[in-house]
Amino acid sequence: MNVNDNNNTIIELKNVRKSFGSLVVLDDVNLKIYRGQTTVIIGESGTGKSVLLKHIVGLIRPDAGSVFFEGENIAKLSERALMTVRTKFGFLFQGGALFDSMSAIDNVAFPLREHTDMDDDIILKVAIDKLRLVGLEHVAKQMPASLSGGQKKRVALARAIALNPQVILYDEPTTGLDPIRSDVINELILKLKRQLEVTSIVVTHDMKSAYKVADRILMLYKGKFIFDGTVEQIKNSTDERIQQFITGQAGQEELKLLKI
Ligand SMILES: Nc1ncnc2c1ncn2[C@@H]1O[C@H](COP(=O)(O)OP(=O)(O)OP(=O)(O)O)[C@@H](O)[C@H]1O
Ligand SMILES: [Mg+2]
Repeated sequence: MNVNDNNNTIIELKNVRKSFGSLVVLDDVNLKIYRGQTTVIIGESGTGKSVLLKHIVGLIRPDAGSVFFEGENIAKLSERALMTVRTKFGFLFQGGALFDSMSAIDNVAFPLREHTDMDDDIILKVAIDKLRLVGLEHVAKQMPASLSGGQKKRVALARAIALNPQVILYDEPTTGLDPIRSDVINELILKLKRQLEVTSIVVTHDMKSAYKVADRILMLYKGKFIFDGTVEQIKNSTDERIQQFITGQAGQEELKLLKI
């Protein structure tokens, strides 16, 4: 079976438009996300990658167009109905903020305490399981202030998967980490895909990470997707805008602005 078959579409954005004042961020965006795949979205800073992810969980509503999750248009749901939909998503936010006043395990237990009526001893067992999955069982009792940047991201990831989501959204999961810590995160993204059979969407401008985790890569540019294909295909793309981005070179526009 073709993995890109319609039955395998879990999320679909249709003709989505979003502006903030006069700034058009998403300009008639169409996107299908396929079940079980890891889709990577790349694009310059400020192009709307985070805004796009927030549409998928209904944190931002489109000005026009639809956002389907398993066939249901979530752009039209009430806040209350959205809460239920959101429990099916794990969101690793850009910056991955933990609650500073709670230990690592209490951070992971938080969504379980909020959204389930399980006994607290069971909740703590689930939370430890999730910390074990990200290799951080031993920091369970520590406060966020005593964790490294990489450890904080992994605790945030354990929290994002606490409710066994069907979809994990990663917003810049490796930003600010050294190459080794970044690779630990990449390996975790691959492991969670394998073990939990989740659908993943990874927003990044770290091309090393993109190449390692992607089944499919899309590039957002000035409000539209200008590329949709495999790692091999993007590496071989002859589009100048894509080559500049993936090889990390400033374009003529930027150089002109800098008077270089
Ligand atoms: N709530 C908001 N109100 C007004 N403008 C916003 C809002 N959210 C985002 N924007 C603007 O929309 C544009 C896209 O923002 P977004 O955060 O999606 O960029 P991004 O691609 O995630 O960038 P980065 O790679 O730096 O994280 C930016 O110009 C930003 O200032
Ligand atoms: Mg962003």
